[in-house]
Amino acid sequence: MFAPDTYAARRAALADAVSGGLIVLLGNNAAPMNYAANHYPFRQDGSFRYYAGADAPGLALTIDADSGEATLYGREATIEDRVWDGERPSVADRASAADIPDSAPPDALGGVVAAARQAGRTIHVLPPYRAEHRIRLGNLLGVAPEAVEASDVLTDAVIAQRLVKTPQEVSEIEHAIAIADEMHRTAMWMAQPGRTEFEVAAAIESAATSRGSYLSFPAIVTTRGEVPHHRAGSHVLEAGELLLHDAGCVAPNSGYASDITRVSPVGGTFSERHRAIYDLVLKAQEACIAGCAPGVSFRDLHDLSSKTLAAGLVDLGLLKGDVDELVAEGAHTLFFHHGLGHPLGLDVHDLEGLGEDRVGYADEASRSTQFGTKFLRFARELRPGHVMTVEPGLYFNAVLIELWRSEGRYADAVDYDEAQQWVGFGGVRIEDDVLITDDGHRVLGPPIPKRPEDVEAAVQGGA
Ligand code: GLY
Repeated sequence: MFAPDTYAARRAALADAVSGGLIVLLGNNAAPMNYAANHYPFRQDGSFRYYAGADAPGLALTIDADSGEATLYGREATIEDRVWDGERPSVADRASAADIPDSAPPDALGGVVAAARQAGRTIHVLPPYRAEHRIRLGNLLGVAPEAVEASDVLTDAVIAQRLVKTPQEVSEIEHAIAIADEMHRTAMWMAQPGRTEFEVAAAIESAATSRGSYLSFPAIVTTRGEVPHHRAGSHVLEAGELLLHDAGCVAPNSGYASDITRVSPVGGTFSERHRAIYDLVLKAQEACIAGCAPGVSFRDLHDLSSKTLAAGLVDLGLLKGDVDELVAEGAHTLFFHHGLGHPLGLDVHDLEGLGEDRVGYADEASRSTQFGTKFLRFARELRPGHVMTVEPGLYFNAVLIELWRSEGRYADAVDYDEAQQWVGFGGVRIEDDVLITDDGHRVLGPPIPKRPEDVEAAVQGGA
């Protein structure tokens, strides 16, 4: 957690931006796996944590956007809680840790909202992404759960504030990347024939949890890299395969996330074929990172990655034709079918719970309808303080290649016989986390092996 006045300043800025009405922010509850007492690891709502600091279930915050007053709502520990789970801070202590002047029991929230409604005040809530929050907000607002309407002014104010990171937030993201460095080096050491994907995934997670952290999303550890979100399985690694590891963690005590992807040659040496694709993806990533600067549209950087990859695919004989036309028509999306990256912060896809279009497009850009390109999560102009992942990739997905070939799609632009030769290769994605500075950018965190010879050396170090 940051110093208490950080949270007070954030709330004051939010109240100012919303300018009138009552803001209600719900913290997350523990989510049961199969019965109430057995729950998934707790993850706090990003916006709640940003304004209230507290990383515990069952809390709520109101901010009076007229007076600036704030109250934290929560249940005190019962003797049963204290016996079974141990001592925990009182709600008043949690409030004062974030300079919140008042605290109250959870039931008081209903009365506060009802009084504000009776007085004709606007109640501002964020779009709920959990069903139980939708139900609770419906009860508070006196409407059916499906009729809960988020406040545009609040949502836009939160997005504007949280998208721009302060130096102390950047430092927390860098802490999470420093742990991710250990996670990915561990994966490289473990990328040896005879190991299973499960073992590598477990070691990655252990590198985080043994440092007081936890994963920011379920790790992707696979030789089936052509499936961008493929999870680890029982597959036994074989020399000559590529192991893709896409994993991040959260900074202990603050919750800020990292998100890094590397690809390791199992056994320690990239083949010529591996290098053809690895070097091309690295070239695209480095070109896009070099282009990161205030005023540059992330959509243009996505196009830069597409064109760089498409040009390389033409050289490899996989695509045929003029690069600009191939990209305009979308032929390259057979091999690159996701966006260049996304904002990173307290959420690994930062703020996405508030609406991907609202965060990533707003009034500045419109989402493409083209397969692949439409998965670009952020297309706006970059500004100082934005933290973005930059993660181009190339994939040889048998299902997609077979489908498009059978449909005759891009028949003149794709050499399907050649593409078929690459089925079984897997995929390559290379991802770093990049801060937009006043005059350019900075790749955050320590250097994590990325040049092919550095990755090879890291893998060979574990043999
Ligand atoms: N790194 C996983 C994702 O961005 O979806």
